[in-house]
Amino acid sequence: MTAHYQVHGDIAVITLDNPPVNGLGLSTRQGIAQGMEQALADAAVAAIVITGAGKAFSGGADIREFGSPKAMQEPNLNSVIQVLEQSSKPVVAAIHSVAMGGGLELALGCHYRVAAPGASIALPEVKLGLLPGAGGTQRLPRALGVEPALNMIVSGEAIKSEMLAMLPGQQLFQKISASPESLAEEALAFARSVAATRPLPLVRNLPCKHPLGDAYFQFARNMVGGMSKNYPAPLKCVDAVEAATKGKFEAGMAKEREIFINLMWTSESRALRHLFLGERAASKIPDVPADTPLRDIKSVAIIGAGTMGGGIAMNFLNAGVPVKMLEMKQEALDRGLATIRGNYEAQVKKGKLKQAKYDERMALLSTTLSYDDLSGTDMVIEAVFEEIGVKEAVFKELDRVMKPGAILASNTSTLDLNKIASFTKRPQDVVGLHFFSPANVMKLLEVVRGEKTAIDVMATVMAVSKKIRKTAVVSGVCDGFIGNRMIEQYGRQGGFLLDEGCTPEQVDKAMEKFGMAMGPFRMGDLAGNDIGWAIRKRRATERANMKYSKTADLLCEKGRFGQKTGAGWYDYKPGKRDAIPNAEVVKMIEDYRAAQGITPRKISDEEIVQRLVFALVNEAAHILEEGIANKASDIDICYIFGYGFPPYRGGPMLYADEVGLFNVVQAMHRFAQNPRDDAEFWKPAPLLAKLAAEGKTFN
Ligand code: NAI
Repeated sequence: MTAHYQVHGDIAVITLDNPPVNGLGLSTRQGIAQGMEQALADAAVAAIVITGAGKAFSGGADIREFGSPKAMQEPNLNSVIQVLEQSSKPVVAAIHSVAMGGGLELALGCHYRVAAPGASIALPEVKLGLLPGAGGTQRLPRALGVEPALNMIVSGEAIKSEMLAMLPGQQLFQKISASPESLAEEALAFARSVAATRPLPLVRNLPCKHPLGDAYFQFARNMVGGMSKNYPAPLKCVDAVEAATKGKFEAGMAKEREIFINLMWTSESRALRHLFLGERAASKIPDVPADTPLRDIKSVAIIGAGTMGGGIAMNFLNAGVPVKMLEMKQEALDRGLATIRGNYEAQVKKGKLKQAKYDERMALLSTTLSYDDLSGTDMVIEAVFEEIGVKEAVFKELDRVMKPGAILASNTSTLDLNKIASFTKRPQDVVGLHFFSPANVMKLLEVVRGEKTAIDVMATVMAVSKKIRKTAVVSGVCDGFIGNRMIEQYGRQGGFLLDEGCTPEQVDKAMEKFGMAMGPFRMGDLAGNDIGWAIRKRRATERANMKYSKTADLLCEKGRFGQKTGAGWYDYKPGKRDAIPNAEVVKMIEDYRAAQGITPRKISDEEIVQRLVFALVNEAAHILEEGIANKASDIDICYIFGYGFPPYRGGPMLYADEVGLFNVVQAMHRFAQNPRDDAEFWKPAPLLAKLAAEGKTFN
């Protein structure tokens, strides 16, 4: 049982105890129901307090029960709340730390609520494409007022208990304890003080109106609708709260249930739930036990203070970890330092960072020109030029100076990590940490596991990535790792589409309509078209049979590298990021087509999207099969957090599952017939073909 029952004098205390956040799983719900039964049967008990052990009152639904029949098994949360409301003895919720989702709904079913200051209060279901399904949309507006309640339900954001307690007329909290420590004592005293009160107050009986009536809900819909395109849940939250103001409580509850069930079936909610679970699952590596002892990382060294080195340093400074940066020349250090300062100062100017915090962070940063200064640091991240000879020199130096047990990481984006590890006498301590640019902003971190990387090094860097607030995905060693290996196929399809009749703008628009943050050509301009150019030159010797459109090479020959040169697939005004279509580029593509004897054809947005997205999917299936990625959801997380894939589609793998793998394979067979395309590439990866044939999915 994950709830305990105790009696303190004439007060029964039911304590939820289901670590880590007292999720309301079946055994917790059963525990509450049994506790209530015991308390009601015991004549010596005058009132009941419900509270949570450890780090929360309750974080809501138990995510381990997501999608399992246990989540619905009786007593479900609504039934438990009914038991509380119908109790003949007063029930007091003693809330501390966290009351979210079902946890808050449970509290709203109690007769009274006493909260500790500093508790985070939220109904975050909207973030999973849902709404609160155990009366939250009906009871919170009654307890708190329509407007603040709607704000909380639509945003899903947490608000501190003491702030809510200050709202005029609120009935959410009858008391805020003097301190978190005194909550238990004060809740018991409160329960005693109301032990004889009858009738018992119920939130469901409170009035629920907004003075502006219908107009208010019209305003709310205009606001919410404008901000939530592609996400159906927020507007549905408005409907549910409106229902709370319109009719009987029971009718509102029925409306909430109906909306909840409909939202549960939307692809957006499936996608958001998939991401929620996928992000948590990404940190778990099959052969790395959760209790693996971690290495202590108290300080970090960074080699190279360029674009990446500076951004990486900021991540650690922000997390309060001292950083020592090394360069070969003082000028390079000065430049790197100035960029970091500039970034922070811009944040200070915008009011996003306090001057004192900025000073604190800069005080953690030191620089050096000598490797011998690094001997005391626990971890080093190399971010020097992408040349194997340079990496070799650096790792030999690191091997010489770093203390035993220090973690040696490389930010390489294309080089063979196993080879880099072999430059040292301690390949077990070497790992890849592939940050994305700008490294202080992008959430994704690919953790590259070498052949010999030790298990405790993997466990440690996963913990470090959490500390610096990155979403880490583990990749095996291969050219491009997970993300860039897939994007190469995506870019290749983009090129073929130009050859056949599209303009860059048409392709980008189609992909942006699909939901990508940026189409492939705008993305190329942002990253620098010269990067792909270098890769294609390398491919010409490494994989001569890989077919590419020549248009991107022609573009680079004109020096149109993208935003950094003010011109790429599009033109850019100085200091601006708006992509302006360029007639010369379109003509360049047309001339190329003519020279190849290609008659352009009209290509639908649907074909554009399918070819680009299924190119990601087929390559990803190879990546899964080769064991480069541990699971399909890791690939989805990688694409959502690193490549601007729309969260409401859940990532390329979930998208393929939703389309149906049979249909995906059929489309690939069709694309293979296209002489301008790459028939070899469109052979479905064996894993994909197998899953499709068996009617299965990736996830
Ligand atoms: P960058 O050219 O901006 O910076 C490299 C820095 O390393 C320069 O400041 C240079 O002075 C310094 N450096 C070169 N050799 C050195 C040595 N032997 N000892 C100490 N410092 C040395 O390059 P960037 O873009 O920061 O890339 C660095 C690494 O990060 C590369 O491996 C690259 O592939 C990888 N990377 C780059 C991304 C990007 O978008 N720019 C994304 C992900 C990874």
